[in-house]
Amino acid sequence: MSIIFHEKTKQFHLNNDYISYIIGVLPDGSLGQLYSGERIHDKEDYSYLINLEYRSMMVGLHDNEVFTQEINRMEYPSFGTGDYRAPAFMLMHENGSHVSRFEYVSHRIFPGKPALPGLPALYTEDDSEAESLEICLKDHLTGMGQYHLYTVFKDYPVIARSVRFVNGGSERVKITRAMSMALDLPDSDYVWMQFSGAWTREKRPIERLLTEGTVSIGSLRGHSSANHNPFVILKRRNTDEFKGEALGISLVYSGNFLMSAEGDTYGTLRFIAGIHPECFSWNLSPGDEFRTPEAVIAWTNEGLNDLSHTFHSLYRKRLCRGIWKEKPRPILLNNWEATYMGFNEESILKIASKGRDAGIELFVLDDGWFGKRDDDRSGLGDWYVNKDKLPGGIGGLSEKIHAMGMKFGLWFEPEMINEDSDLYRAHPDWVLSVPGRSRSVGRHQMVLDLSKNEVLEYLYERMHNIIDEGKIDYVKWDMNRTISECYSIGAEAEEQGTIYHKNVLNVYKLYEKLISDFPEILFESCASGGSRFDAGMLYYAPQTWGSDDTDAVERMKIQYGTSYGYPISSIGAHVSESPNQQTGRACSIETRAAVACFGTFGYEMDLNRLSDEEFETVKKQVIFMKEHRELLQGGRFYRLLSPYEGNYCAWMVVSEDRKRAIAACYRILAEVNPGHKRLKFTGLDPDKTYRIEGNEYFGDELMKIGLEIADIPKEGKGAEGDFVSRLWILE
Ligand code: DGJ
Repeated sequence: MSIIFHEKTKQFHLNNDYISYIIGVLPDGSLGQLYSGERIHDKEDYSYLINLEYRSMMVGLHDNEVFTQEINRMEYPSFGTGDYRAPAFMLMHENGSHVSRFEYVSHRIFPGKPALPGLPALYTEDDSEAESLEICLKDHLTGMGQYHLYTVFKDYPVIARSVRFVNGGSERVKITRAMSMALDLPDSDYVWMQFSGAWTREKRPIERLLTEGTVSIGSLRGHSSANHNPFVILKRRNTDEFKGEALGISLVYSGNFLMSAEGDTYGTLRFIAGIHPECFSWNLSPGDEFRTPEAVIAWTNEGLNDLSHTFHSLYRKRLCRGIWKEKPRPILLNNWEATYMGFNEESILKIASKGRDAGIELFVLDDGWFGKRDDDRSGLGDWYVNKDKLPGGIGGLSEKIHAMGMKFGLWFEPEMINEDSDLYRAHPDWVLSVPGRSRSVGRHQMVLDLSKNEVLEYLYERMHNIIDEGKIDYVKWDMNRTISECYSIGAEAEEQGTIYHKNVLNVYKLYEKLISDFPEILFESCASGGSRFDAGMLYYAPQTWGSDDTDAVERMKIQYGTSYGYPISSIGAHVSESPNQQTGRACSIETRAAVACFGTFGYEMDLNRLSDEEFETVKKQVIFMKEHRELLQGGRFYRLLSPYEGNYCAWMVVSEDRKRAIAACYRILAEVNPGHKRLKFTGLDPDKTYRIEGNEYFGDELMKIGLEIADIPKEGKGAEGDFVSRLWILE
């Protein structure tokens, strides 16, 4: 791994064993993107990749008309100086002009990777793991500076990028657009893959062939959203899970975002990603600075599974933090679908003790334990225990759960408030809303204005005390509505464009304070399921509740889609009751667990309601999970058959040393007199022998010939008819 600077040509070559990323200073002083992708040789001069040719109807440099931005690949493009594609940034100067000209001034190359204060970002544990480059550009007329930070990692085909704007001039500047990255690619022959959906149907892979014009996704909901995930793949037409070229771009951010790819009419493609410029502005007084979130770009030549492995490993090891990041996760039991808010200490203990009998390790008390919270119309904001339900308080309940030998977890939804709450009665101005206008509500709740420090302090004090008194081991941090009327009462008019972003920054700040106070706690983020399942959140909480849809067939699809950009250890997945409460579908307890075990695994039901036979099965599942969770959550995960393409879904995990693997196949609908169908495994050692259910097979045999899957119902216990599954353990 190295970052090379060629003084004579002013070209930077960031590279490691896998990739090269070459940037050059262009004739107008700006940065040009010369090459990105599979590693190539270092060379002093790649300037033949800069287009110098006059063409009609283009504008060029005043004293060098053959250089025009329009047909060059720009590294961080501006608007108004000859480039008519989407800009990476836009500044409004005091004189009303939005034209800037940033020119290369200096750079520094250094080992390791600096933290981005206040923002989630990849990190190194040792400086030798990565090298960073900071390039400083200046707009000489205004004194504004741009600092482009790049990091190349030794062991990953990845570049991490972010930008810092520093006002080094004497006038105020308003930033109206500040993307985290732009990447101009030399051709637009790509298939764009996005992960979109809605509440309870998150992250469905959607593909579009790119051509001239713009394809984009984004969120203006104040959180990354279930509708579009801030992760996009660009792949070649012939790329599939096992072969071919692709790049993935992931934004390490949890708020409003925009990702777009613009094919221009000269055959090139511009990709940009960052904070959504709509409703965003940031004023910089002289001396002030603004930092964008980080974007992570990864490349592969070996198909989408390989691209996912990069994100899985990198995010598990160098984005997630704390003691839990690589540890097998405790098997949990959550009371939400069992009781909703209608519980008391007695009913909770009854559910918990059955969990203890099943071998469960963590009991989680969900929504409804605080304030006046018997339904979702009231109580949010009043983070004081409801003694009618829990007379011994959270501390009392926690003690009893701990005495059963289980850990105790608790639900919070700190960012929200109900109109019917003591908090709202005391502080009506703590709500995001526009004075004089009616306020939209969602789930009868409103959004707290976290840009206000006093709101942050209140939430910190309440959460800290409850966690401390209750000796809490796990926190589920929920967020159940999108933001509307984003206006901070009392803030200056010109500050209003900052509020969406400040809200996100203060959510991060609150997490950070609690994480540093309670480093042992396992945090799980949640937003009505996967409505804030993004790389930003993983920096604070190593797992996220995957979806409010706990139906096994639906979950299989959601987890399949989620696995493209996020590790299996980050996907909260539970077994819930059958028929399922969201779909009404009945599924065997085996199939439900066979899906949930490719996730953090737990139960979301009252186990007392199971038949004796089913309860015995649950006990065996818990034993199975304890034995195999390290592999299931941390092994190399491969997608084999897509549930979006047929009646079957299959995936597998393989241990790092390729000695063990677990594969799963799910058949959605029963087939009568089916044709033969073989599932070919992947990622195994071709020369090793694997034992499966008493039979021995070579790795190459399993990968080239595979196992018959049309007979799943014959073999699987309880697996007849629709929604059947089969797990194979390879040893
Ligand atoms: C939404 C979450 O996704 C559920 O799991 C549950 O915690 C509810 N909120 C509680 O209100």
